[in-house]
Order: sequence, then C-alpha cells, then structure tokens
Amino acid sequence: PKKVTTQTVVEMKQQSEKISMLTAYDYTMARIVDQAGIEVILVGDSASNVMAGHDTTVPMTMEHMIYHASCVVRGVETALVIADLPFMSYQVTAEEALENAGRMMKEAGVHGVKLEGGKPVVETIAKIVEAGIPVMGHLGLTPQSIYKFGTYKVRATEKTEAEQLIEDAKSLEEAGCFSIVLEKIPADLAKKVTEAISIPTIGIGAGPECDGQVLVTHDMLGLNKEFKPRFLRRYDDMHSSMTNAVQQYIRDIKSGGFPNENEQYD
Ligand code: KIV
Ligand code: NA
Repeated sequence: PKKVTTQTVVEMKQQSEKISMLTAYDYTMARIVDQAGIEVILVGDSASNVMAGHDTTVPMTMEHMIYHASCVVRGVETALVIADLPFMSYQVTAEEALENAGRMMKEAGVHGVKLEGGKPVVETIAKIVEAGIPVMGHLGLTPQSIYKFGTYKVRATEKTEAEQLIEDAKSLEEAGCFSIVLEKIPADLAKKVTEAISIPTIGIGAGPECDGQVLVTHDMLGLNKEFKPRFLRRYDDMHSSMTNAVQQYIRDIKSGGFPNENEQYD
C-alpha cells in the first residue's frame, strides 16, 4: 500500500471516503495496527493514562512523548504518524511550541503534531505550519484542560460554547491545520463543524458525520475493563483472553506440563 500523507487525508474528505485512525504508543502495537491497514496512527498523550497509569494527560513530558513516538515510527510503513504535543510544551510561547514541534519531527520522526485548543493557539499553529510541520487540531473535550472543565462530560451542549467551537474550527483551518479531532461533542454540532470546513474532522464521541473516527486502541480491544463511555465500541475482549492465557500458563507450570519434551534441549 502507498504511504498515507496529510494530503491523502484531505483528499479523502473531498472524495467522501471515511478516515480511520487509532492510537499506538509502542513498536509492536504500531506494527499490528499499521499492517492491518489503518490510515492514521496517533501517538496520543493518552499514553499518560494507558501506559503510565496516571489519571490525566497533564504529567506527560516531551521526553515521554518523543520516546513513545520514536518507538511507533519504527513499527510503521504506510500509516501517517501524528504525535500529541504534551501539556505545557506549546502554551507558553509560540517559539517554544515551534521548537518542541520540531523536536518531535526530528528526534521521533513523526509526520506531524497534534495540539489542543482553539483561538488561544491559532497563532502558534500558524507558526508551526509555516515552518513546514503539519498540525492536527483538537477541539471539544480537550483532556489537557480537564482541571478547567472539572468533568469529562460532553462539551458544547449549549449555544455559546457550540458557536465558539465552530468559530475555533474555522480559525484552525485558516491557521493551516490539515485536520481536526472533535472529542465528545453533540453529533449535530460535529456535523455542522464538518460541513463548515474543508479539512477533515476526526471524531471520538462526536457522531457519525465526522470525516473520520478515532479510538484508543487499548480501549477498542477491550484491554481495559473499567473504562466504558457510551461512545466506545469494543471490538474484542482482550482483557479476558489475556487473563485466560496467563492463568493457563500458571496452571501448566504448577502441574509440570510446561515445558514439554519438544520445548527443551538435549
Ligand atoms: O491522546 C489521545 O489518545 C487523543 C485521542 C483520543 C484523540 O488525543
Ligand atoms: Na491526546
């Protein structure tokens, strides 16, 4: 298959072909997801929750993200690889943001970066794009702002926040974003945003009218038993199958059934 570029995903919107995206944080998972044919791989700062066991994405650092992103890049042949810029790596000054976006490209080898927010980061995004670094936006429930929101509830359910979100999406397109993630907003608002801009929207908990969909791979594989928001569809129950495999291994050791005569050396 041909390598997916930022141009590819923009063209997919023009041709009404839906875009598939999943997260990865390591080489093995990235390789599986890439070989399965996913178009975009996000090295999400959700690694903070999924890989490191934190409650939020706030503790993630540039060093953590560069490590995860470099592992993913080594496992990918065709997917477009985008990495999140972590909390406080792009909010202080546009110069610092550009420097960190550049590190993510040079040290990890990703094809672009994602960062959260609307109006407050528009100038920063323009600066990063100008330098030749593709940027994906992220609006709605932006997890780096969880302490401001105070809750993981659906965003933009009332008029002022919904109107602001549409304006933000237009500003992000103008600033040069090639795509925007819409997280946990009403489906009809996501539809309006998708129709209002010419770059693709990628939804998570944002209804079927987005140009593409993204889920956290560990969640959609059912590796996690506790996290079950309404938007999450589980395509497997890997928590159960992994638990069964580990328990069988333990039983085989205890019974002396592992290793057998073929699993040893003369
Ligand atoms: O960090 C992440 O996994 C994300 C996606 C859920 C969009 O930002
Ligand atoms: Na993220």
